[in-house]
Amino acid sequence: MTIDPRVFPDGFVFGSATASYQIEGAAREDGRGPSIWDTFSHTPGNVWHGDTGDVACDHYHRMDEDLDLMAHLGLQAYRFSLAWPRIIPGGTGAVNQAGLDYYSRLIDGLLQRGIDPVATLYHWDLPQPLEDRGGWASRATAEAFAGYAEVVDAAFGDRIGTWTTLNEPWCSAYLGYGQGVHAPGRREPAAALAAVHHLNLAHGLGTQALRATSTGDPRYSVTLNFHVARPGGDGGEEAMRRIDALANRAFTGPMLRGEYPADLLEDTVAVTDWSFVRDGDLAEIRQPIDVLGVNYYSTVTVRLWDGEGEMTRNDGHAPAAEGTAWPGAAQEVEFLPQPGPSTAMGWNIAPDGLTDLLVSLSEQFPDQPLMVTENGAAFDDVVGPDGTIDDSERTDYLRRHFLAARDALDRGVDLRGYFVWSLLDNFEWSFGYSKRFGIVRVNFDTLHRTLKASAHWYRRLIASRSVTV
Ligand code: NOJ
Repeated sequence: MTIDPRVFPDGFVFGSATASYQIEGAAREDGRGPSIWDTFSHTPGNVWHGDTGDVACDHYHRMDEDLDLMAHLGLQAYRFSLAWPRIIPGGTGAVNQAGLDYYSRLIDGLLQRGIDPVATLYHWDLPQPLEDRGGWASRATAEAFAGYAEVVDAAFGDRIGTWTTLNEPWCSAYLGYGQGVHAPGRREPAAALAAVHHLNLAHGLGTQALRATSTGDPRYSVTLNFHVARPGGDGGEEAMRRIDALANRAFTGPMLRGEYPADLLEDTVAVTDWSFVRDGDLAEIRQPIDVLGVNYYSTVTVRLWDGEGEMTRNDGHAPAAEGTAWPGAAQEVEFLPQPGPSTAMGWNIAPDGLTDLLVSLSEQFPDQPLMVTENGAAFDDVVGPDGTIDDSERTDYLRRHFLAARDALDRGVDLRGYFVWSLLDNFEWSFGYSKRFGIVRVNFDTLHRTLKASAHWYRRLIASRSVTV
């Protein structure tokens, strides 16, 4: 029997994703405490145009409308995040019942519409009081995370389809504590590596806390953003190894194998002795997970810097902050301009990178089911005279990446689903509202939502379970 390579198998889940700080707004309502992103975005110079998440998409007040949009699209699952400062404003201690009630309504609203809730505990909005006590550079934050996991599991564990501990800890650690372009805006290479470990520990302790108390039958997961590197000249293979160690294996090593890779420890010896790793930590971190979440947008091309002229750091996350983004030996890795075409983020469009990544992960971790928890693209959308948004570039991007994922299935990868980033245009971190990733447009003056052509296309894809549309 031949299987049409554009048709997805039964059981494959089609979803879409968002994150609390990027869409909710209501930053000071109903007992929510400040997060590091409130502090960071309110500090001049950190975010494009001085944008903040104070209002964002106002999803907090428009939840029902957004739930109806999801149902209209036919989403089978919705990936969202819980704002820790809404639930435990101090990071530890008193629980804010209004915060729990809010997410309880969201989860019930999803279930009523037949949409599976995929909840991330940490998508970057750390309660500010925890940062004031050291943030992710401090072990106490990982311990606080376990307490938070217990609270949310007691409240929602009977209704959640998949729990995800962390979203993209690479960004939290390196962009937040190394390069300083994300909250909390610190530029301390040693703190960035301590943050790597404490995020790993938070994942381990958090997964255990969730598992210990769950009354339902949720799946457990974590979402990582992998660097898919290509060699770009002299020292290309060595540059790839260094980036793979620091960006990818620094997380999969402890989480899935119970060890930090030896080459990572060597590469970073001038920055830290890793003495923040205590006896027993690696056993705590390595927890069986049901699914590994994979976020993928583009590739990077690397080589070793030859010491001549200006170093190129086109790794796509922000203007270069020399020498702090990549601690240790990876500091000498040069990120070359990517061949086009690219999205409005300047990220090159490379669907084959997604197939390669999924195949590589399934070779490295043969028994580990995978899920694409984010893929999507920012483009400068144009609203037509009749109010429609013909975002054909985004549709084309998505179509090609769905086919790339389908290709990975053909190559034997155990891929369980795919979440489009994002349901709504939203607060794109240090780029503010200047970058639109949504399949639904948000007018940030009126907060009115309009389905873009890509949303109509995705609706048909879900209905037909096929990329023939
Ligand atoms: C990764 C992050 O998880 C998400 O918050 C962000 O908006 C997208 N990628 C696009 O940059």
